[in-house]
Amino acid sequence: MPTKKLILSQQEIARRVVELGHEISALYQDRPLVLVGVLNGAFIFMADLARSLTINVEIDFVRVASYGMSSTSSGSISLSKDVGLDLTDKDVLLVEDIVDTGRTLAWLKEFFHDKGATSVRLCTLINKKERRQAAVEPDFSGFDVDEGFLVGYGLDCAEQYRNLAAIYHLEKPLV
Ligand code: IMP
Ligand code: MG
Repeated sequence: MPTKKLILSQQEIARRVVELGHEISALYQDRPLVLVGVLNGAFIFMADLARSLTINVEIDFVRVASYGMSSTSSGSISLSKDVGLDLTDKDVLLVEDIVDTGRTLAWLKEFFHDKGATSVRLCTLINKKERRQAAVEPDFSGFDVDEGFLVGYGLDCAEQYRNLAAIYHLEKPLV
């Protein structure tokens, strides 16, 4: 079994998610906002973030098929699940677990602009800056971390560890 080192406790995450909810609510106020979660990693963050908002939102999900079971990007991105909502003239906030190279985010931003969204912003729980390749930055970010492979609170390694309540650094990823 790989060893895990605690990086962010359940309490730290909960506090920061509430702050993000306030920041996002203050920015959008009465505008029609759609939260679009990126499956599978964002499912827990989305559930907590959505409940920390004080504004009305619609919620949908996409699934991106780029990483498969590996811990590094394969480079090519496609959607294996699209949104069902009409996004024309709506503000879209993408909800991601973690931004690493930024390629997924860059691709998704263009994809949602092409769907006619008024604006496309990104909220990520974790901003991992060291390996950034695409020229994109999250508009809302929970925590900055250095390079390293993280699991828990939705983040996986080969579909394991998503259900951990805190976030850990995985010393030897199973890949
Ligand atoms: P990017 O296109 O390299 O920014 O890929 C971001 C995606 O890679 C995230 O949505 C995660 O699914 C996955 N990913 C990147 N780093 C990690 C990590 O440390 N732990 C778990 N998944 C990760
Ligand atoms: Mg993932």
